[in-house]
Amino acid sequence: MCGIVGFTGMDNAAPNILEGLEKLEYRGYDSAGIAVLNDGIINITKVTGRIAALREKTENGELMPGTTAIGHTRWATHGAPTDTNAHPHLSNDGRFAVVHNGIIENYMELKSKLIESGYIFESETDTEVVVHLLEKYYKGDMHSCIRKIASKLKGSYALGILCTENPNKIFATKQSSPLILGIGAGENYFASDVTALINYTQNVIYLEDGEFAEITPDEIKIFDCAGYEIKKPVSRVNWDIQAAEKGGYEHFMLKEITEQPRAVKATLTPRIKDGKIMLDNLNIELDGISKILITACGSAYYAGCAGKYIIEKLCRIPVELQLASELRYSDPIIDNKTLLIVLSQSGETADTIAAMKECSQRGAKTLAIVNVVGSTIANLADYTLYTHAGPEIAVATTKGYTTQLTVLYLFAVYAAEILGRIEADEYSKLLDDLMSIPKLLQNTMDMNSKIENTAKKYYTSDSMFFIGRNTDYALALEGALKMKEISYIHAESYAAGELKHGTIALISEGTPVIALACNQDIKEKTMSNIVEVKSRGARVLAVSLNDDKNIAMLANDIITVPKFDSPFAPILEIIPLQLMAYYVAKLNGCDIDKPKNLAKSVTVE
Ligand code: M6R
Repeated sequence: MCGIVGFTGMDNAAPNILEGLEKLEYRGYDSAGIAVLNDGIINITKVTGRIAALREKTENGELMPGTTAIGHTRWATHGAPTDTNAHPHLSNDGRFAVVHNGIIENYMELKSKLIESGYIFESETDTEVVVHLLEKYYKGDMHSCIRKIASKLKGSYALGILCTENPNKIFATKQSSPLILGIGAGENYFASDVTALINYTQNVIYLEDGEFAEITPDEIKIFDCAGYEIKKPVSRVNWDIQAAEKGGYEHFMLKEITEQPRAVKATLTPRIKDGKIMLDNLNIELDGISKILITACGSAYYAGCAGKYIIEKLCRIPVELQLASELRYSDPIIDNKTLLIVLSQSGETADTIAAMKECSQRGAKTLAIVNVVGSTIANLADYTLYTHAGPEIAVATTKGYTTQLTVLYLFAVYAAEILGRIEADEYSKLLDDLMSIPKLLQNTMDMNSKIENTAKKYYTSDSMFFIGRNTDYALALEGALKMKEISYIHAESYAAGELKHGTIALISEGTPVIALACNQDIKEKTMSNIVEVKSRGARVLAVSLNDDKNIAMLANDIITVPKFDSPFAPILEIIPLQLMAYYVAKLNGCDIDKPKNLAKSVTVE
């Protein structure tokens, strides 16, 4: 959840650390800090609040001279967001400073022992045990000290460490939390993710669990958990700098919404060649699969909900869905005939990782659909299909979700063909449909200004309902999540037919109901539900196909998407829902890219 960065080079480190932290701010943004090693002394500045406050307090880093530094932006877990709980943490003797992303699960036990040994704790964090352990076990050799403390820590961590006896050096190690090393010219770096590095370098090394790095301005040495130096491949990041910039948009979220046609095209095009879907090197024995289980969290889970319909429809394989946070503890019925599909934009979501490990142990084959190359989930999976959304910075996912849906569509058609469940002409029609999605998404964007105006009628609401049936219901789930997470308006999604079993009691004069009625097979039924809520006073905003006069007559407001006679049509519906949430949040003056209490990458369970 937190973001960490480290820099060592010839220039002043603090301005570079501030820039890196700004790029990582979406990972957590309630407090921040920098530690700079200069002339054998570690200086620390911390603030409660955003990186802007840290910039101000350090005068853009100029008050903190020194060429070696580490920094942290926090999403509080243990202890409130205060200056004292903010990282970096300093050892009692002032020789070590530590930044940490993750959770040290056995910190209570370690803390009691350290207190008994006389160490004084300043903060309520789990992290602080690390810095005192460093002080306790350091005998002049950082390598053995890091190995020693790693053997004592349980949980997840990416750690950046400064030691006054090692000038110009930063140390980094990890376990179940991401850490990437950046290779510059006369300067080197580490960061929680590549967005903090691409302004400086596109050459990176992905550190694996248990490895640690010793970083100087001229070289990066990596060691395995036994302390032997190892050589690791350098990867080239193909995200460009602009991809992680706002590029003139007021918010990353709006930029990322408008990038969706391009992102979906990038995800589709390389995989459709000569009238066939080529799914990278996927060689799953689909014949031997008796059940597909999809797991994920949040929006990725909702992409899975939409994916279930299409996979079942085309492949006729039963598809179950379970939230990753529930699956892990549900004693799941899984065997080696189960294919687990794991969806994750970041590839670092702790609940998803835990569920995946649980299912793997029970024999499931795992297919990950992930955006971030080299992420934990991508590395753990038996098979990985990347979405090519590029960096997603806004906390609310948009292009991450649509590209996940796109890969699920590709997989469904691919699997249906291999399993012989569709005829050749249907297969080629489905490929044409897939290829037409980017253009249709672009056309859907034409509703932008209409949606902006419509939002003016709804933004003062306290509560909203999103309804739909079948695939429309799957999209309603994601629409409601978008609305609540960025506008803080209570929004619930319901299967439209389920309202009358209780929830309809909440509908009264003026209650906004966003009704999705694009699914032509079930539209008449949804229309009846629209009538039911309208007769109880609801104000209905319908999302429907652009030639649907009947729905236009029923609803108070209508937003249309292009007619698309395809099982992939639901993907178009998400655009108006994302834009509606965006404009409602904007009218309410919300911090759209960094909603309260949230962080982009949820690396704690
Ligand atoms: O990185 P992941 O896709 O694994 O993240 C899962 C959820 O935390 C994520 O989709 C979250 O719900 C979104 N921020 C919602 O917009």
